[in-house]
Amino acid sequence: MENRIGEIIKINGNVIRVRVDFPVIQNEIGYVVLNEERLKAEVIRIDYNYVDMQVFESTAGIKIKDKVIFTNELLSVDLGPGLLGEIFDGLGNPLTKIANMYGFFLKRGVYLSSLDDESKWEFFPLVKKNDTVMPASFLGFVNEKIFKHYIMVPFNFPENLVVEDIYPGEHNLKEVIAVLKDKDNKTYNCFLKQRWPVKIPIKCYQEKLKPSKTLTTKIRIIDSLFPIALGGTYCIPGPFGSGKTVLQQLISRHADIDIVVLVACGERAGEVVEVLKTFPQLKDGRTNRPLIDRTVIICNTSAMPVSARDASVYIGITIAEYYRQMGLNVLLLADSTSRWAQAMREVSTRLEEIPGEEAFPAYLESRIASFYERSGFVKLYNGECGSVTIGGTVSPAGGNFEEPVTQATLKVVGAFLGLSRERANARKYPAIDPLISWSKYDTFLDSEKVKYVYNLLHRSKDIEDMTKVVGLEGISLADYITYLKGEFFDFVYLQQNAFDPIDEATDRKRQEYVFNFIFSEILDKEFNFSNKDDALSFFQKLRQLFKTWNSSIFKSDEFLSLEEEIKNLLKEKYVQSL
Ligand SMILES: Nc1ncnc2c1ncn2[C@@H]1O[C@H](COP(=O)(O)OP(=O)(O)OP(=O)(O)O)[C@@H](O)[C@H]1O
Ligand SMILES: [Mg+2]
Repeated sequence: MENRIGEIIKINGNVIRVRVDFPVIQNEIGYVVLNEERLKAEVIRIDYNYVDMQVFESTAGIKIKDKVIFTNELLSVDLGPGLLGEIFDGLGNPLTKIANMYGFFLKRGVYLSSLDDESKWEFFPLVKKNDTVMPASFLGFVNEKIFKHYIMVPFNFPENLVVEDIYPGEHNLKEVIAVLKDKDNKTYNCFLKQRWPVKIPIKCYQEKLKPSKTLTTKIRIIDSLFPIALGGTYCIPGPFGSGKTVLQQLISRHADIDIVVLVACGERAGEVVEVLKTFPQLKDGRTNRPLIDRTVIICNTSAMPVSARDASVYIGITIAEYYRQMGLNVLLLADSTSRWAQAMREVSTRLEEIPGEEAFPAYLESRIASFYERSGFVKLYNGECGSVTIGGTVSPAGGNFEEPVTQATLKVVGAFLGLSRERANARKYPAIDPLISWSKYDTFLDSEKVKYVYNLLHRSKDIEDMTKVVGLEGISLADYITYLKGEFFDFVYLQQNAFDPIDEATDRKRQEYVFNFIFSEILDKEFNFSNKDDALSFFQKLRQLFKTWNSSIFKSDEFLSLEEEIKNLLKEKYVQSL
């Protein structure tokens, strides 16, 4: 192959301009040659014989006239067994392995395959000689943690290949496990791993279906009022410190999902360390095994320039799509997408593009939209279904949801879980504000009842605001009871104690039971109170009982006896019908 070497003519932070006298493709990878080091860079703009590239490493030391070697390859990631439980940096380098080899101070220009080529896996074929296969057909599987990891025909192979040979038994990732042949007898080798360019969605499926199944997160305010669908999208915007990261972690622990891919693009090193420290300790709420066994983490290390955040988002979504192809339900969490957007802004500024709103590039919206569009509930070629659900946090400066990243995101997502400063300050966790949040997906509860509850919460807030103006004496007893009902529902149902082993996760059955109980026994009932104090003390008593009820095991003796006690208390105050 001809030498494709360009020469640097301009350096502007992490963006370099390179002169080339050969064709280059958009998003092609090149390596800046710096003594012994090779620094990875990606083509982001082509202008005749000049290309602009974002360098994924510190550019210190790079000079004009330095060389860049082009690879003909797009930014890609290795896909295969060994991804689960790993922690990668923004470029897909396995961090634990790098740390073992180079210590904790990451060396610039060190790139390792995201998978360990030497690791051996027992391969169990599912096809035999002379079978016809398609891209993404299952050739066989290996066991990875608790999953059958299907080894698939590479997604970029031609259709209708015939199995020429297949080799069961132990293999490492460099050994051929199957040989396929096309009608002209051209052969194609398959391995346990394959490579895929991260910016191109994997589309080996029959069709994308409308996300209609609820994804149970076991967080009551989400599942009951603002549900998320399998294969759908949601965002969690919230001001600094309002609980976005904690909420994403809770969802990853308890949601009814097979695999979680966590992309941490927070810029503070402390946050990254926090993820690395805490995540491996967390227990999977569903299987009681370490959560990390069904998780892939991609973390931008503080040593990396902002451009690596861009790469990490795409690597994450590609890994998610890969596991989806096996018929699994995958949840991709991006925390926080604002930092990714900031990276886009920085690169755009260096490219001297015409800035859009708040100096974000004009293509911000389309980038965000095409990222969320990679979610989906799909019907695979084999008739099975798989899904990628995407949840991104947004951290708008000053908590102002009018800013471009939040606005661009809420145009495309299916559910908006807005956290509010007031709720976080009042330690009403999760701090999702029911008055500003919404979801386009269907709730599993009776939608009329849910509508009633939205209304109640709004009315309750209005009455509270009015009280601030006219004082408690200025409002009627009936209004006061409405206010108390809203407050009560918020306290015992919408708020959930993340530190209580029972209350932290409520499954669907219990949500249905408790919601309907509260609705028919309390919200929909009329009460007889002699005055406001009487009403207040009654609801306080009720609240306390409910709090204990929430921490008791569903349908246990304790649960049942508390239920009796609650019913008895309620009976005393019902308006008796004749
Ligand atoms: N569900 C919860 N239960 C109890 N405490 C919580 C909960 N959510 C958040 N907190 C408290 O709020 C703190 C900040 O939460 P978190 O780090 O998730 O905020 P954040 O919105 O991600 O912040 P940043 O904008 O800095 O990324 C936590 O350390 C914790 O003390
Ligand atoms: Mg955070």
